[in-house]
Amino acid sequence: MKPGLKVGLIGAGTMGSAHAEAYRVLDNAELVAVSDLIYERAQAIAAKTGAEIKTADQIFADSSIDVVDVCLPTYLHRDFVVAAAQAGKHVFCEKPMARSLQEAEEMKTACEKAGVKLGIGHVVRFFPEYIRAYDQVKNGKVGKVAMVRCTRGGFPLPTAWQDWYANYALSGGLVLDMIIHDFDYLRWLLGPVERVFAKGTRGRDYNRLEYALVSLKFRSGTIAHVEGSWVSSGGFHTRFEIAGSQGLIDYDSRKANPITLTVNKKDGTPGVPVPASAWAENPYTTEIRNFINVLDGKDGKIVDGNEGYESLKIALAALESIETGKPVNL
Ligand SMILES: NC(=O)c1ccc[n+]([C@@H]2O[C@H](COP(=O)([O-])OP(=O)(O)OC[C@H]3O[C@@H](n4cnc5c(N)ncnc54)[C@H](O)[C@@H]3O)[C@@H](O)[C@H]2O)c1
Repeated sequence: MKPGLKVGLIGAGTMGSAHAEAYRVLDNAELVAVSDLIYERAQAIAAKTGAEIKTADQIFADSSIDVVDVCLPTYLHRDFVVAAAQAGKHVFCEKPMARSLQEAEEMKTACEKAGVKLGIGHVVRFFPEYIRAYDQVKNGKVGKVAMVRCTRGGFPLPTAWQDWYANYALSGGLVLDMIIHDFDYLRWLLGPVERVFAKGTRGRDYNRLEYALVSLKFRSGTIAHVEGSWVSSGGFHTRFEIAGSQGLIDYDSRKANPITLTVNKKDGTPGVPVPASAWAENPYTTEIRNFINVLDGKDGKIVDGNEGYESLKIALAALESIETGKPVNL
């Protein structure tokens, strides 16, 4: 058994699997329990990590567990985060924090009452390129920022458990589910948002051709627009351009060069190329490392419930604007 905090993971789908990998490499946390309605999913993570397969209620009732990691579909976040907090566990919950502000409020209140920490998975703040751009702006390298443009998308809309991403009532579509990443990043970079105006193809259940364009006016006067698309060619990609009085920053994930290592086999036959990520560490691992370090009394950064709430507010305002055709003041 590793020293450090004991973690129970609820939800062993795409994100649960990513988080499980993070706990494998941390030396001050151990994944001791995993839960999923689909037994084989829990089993796959258990086999890799040595975690025990449990139900969510067994995880809440286990007094040896310090942290609950919630990787469930968005509409389930509130119920499981509140239950975990009431059981006295610190909680890490994937973004978006919840499907509504009311639910997010209940999550914050439950964690505050229980005196436990709540971290929300706004992972873009842990991506090296986004951090580098943030540092350049904060160090005044581009002067006063006038305009930012962000893009995120690909094709096709992902399928998941019970096709919940395509169910607008459960996921909030790409505005709530995907480009909330950019809203959160921009809020971190530029401060509070004053007004939102958006157009998009939302509102049709099982609409797999989703697109939205959201313009944001910040209290500082800066304007930004965020484009989210599940109808873009070229694979999943993200992009940003930041324009300031002294210069520009431009990032396009499609232009990033992965490191390729080619090695000779010992028997002398030609080597095979081994693609590897250019990152020093997977940002999902960095994000969880930061959360665990804070709980462990070390240096770290948490995007907490208040931050998750503020970013959720922007996404919901964008949905309201799409629905009404009018700008929404925050
Ligand atoms: N940070 C990111 O970059 C990022 C990327 C993708 C998804 N997400 C977010 O992560 C969350 C999970 O998304 P996902 O893609 O992993 O979903 P998913 O559908 O792949 O996985 C969800 C899992 O939850 C399980 N489940 C449902 N109800 C359960 C219950 N009561 N008890 C135990 N297990 C249960 C399902 O069987 C499924 O395996 C969502 O909020 C999503 O928005 C974040």
